[in-house]
Amino acid sequence: MDNYIHRGNWYEYWFDNNYLKLYHHRNLKDADEQVQLIINIIKPEKHHSILDLACGEGRHCLLFHKKGYQIKGIDLSATLIRSGKVKHPDLDIGVGDMRHIKGKHDIILSLFTSFGYFDKDRDNISVIFSISRALHPGGWFWIDFLNPEYLKSNLVPDNDLILADGTKVNEKRFFENNSIVKVITFHGQGSNKKYQERVKLYTKKDLEKMLLRAGIHSIDAFGDYKGEEWSSCSPRTIIYGRKTCE
Ligand SMILES: C[S@@+](CC[C@H](N)C(=O)[O-])C[C@H]1O[C@@H](n2cnc3c(N)ncnc32)[C@H](O)[C@@H]1O
Repeated sequence: MDNYIHRGNWYEYWFDNNYLKLYHHRNLKDADEQVQLIINIIKPEKHHSILDLACGEGRHCLLFHKKGYQIKGIDLSATLIRSGKVKHPDLDIGVGDMRHIKGKHDIILSLFTSFGYFDKDRDNISVIFSISRALHPGGWFWIDFLNPEYLKSNLVPDNDLILADGTKVNEKRFFENNSIVKVITFHGQGSNKKYQERVKLYTKKDLEKMLLRAGIHSIDAFGDYKGEEWSSCSPRTIIYGRKTCE
């Protein structure tokens, strides 16, 4: 029997221990390249307040923290925050919602496709406004998002995998209502657990427009974590910009 784990919003259910199991390769080694890129480009000062929005377990936070930067992380998933805290008790991470960011920051990061989760565009745009309000004038915003064009030409519609603990997983991907949908089924004994990921397919231009509306001017874009120039074939859309000084 197949059970959809969630009846409500997918993003309130999917980011649990099964997410950690499936994305175990999204680890510190994977995060390190982007952290290095951010440091090289933005050149944060040690006294700057950095916020990792939707930080998950805090893998990027840990790398910044180890280098002596003041970084905080917030995430909606109590499970991921708890897990990050158990592994690294000195990390400044906590449960929080990207729609209601507290305090003011010099730099806000949105890493590894942590945006575009709401069906309505206006709800996603409201996240950008929330980010803008939480930035000091002249503050930096860095977003690492998917590239819809790359996805459309590289989509793997269906694949099976076996996780390190032997769990069998099936992933199905398709496009629906200008979103990429991934249905993930964890095969268990007697019953299966089914989750969904659903992310809006915002293009580089869409993101830049949203940022501008919220008073954040895009400076440049990269196409991957090595800092390659962005093109329509790039695997990622990484944009960074600054909040205009009022
Ligand atoms: C793809 S994961 C990326 C996590 C982390 N940035 C990383 O690179 O490991 C997306 C994260 O967004 C979080 N999230 C989803 N909706 C959120 C919201 N409204 N506010 C804050 N975090 C949210 C999820 O719990 C999840 O940890």
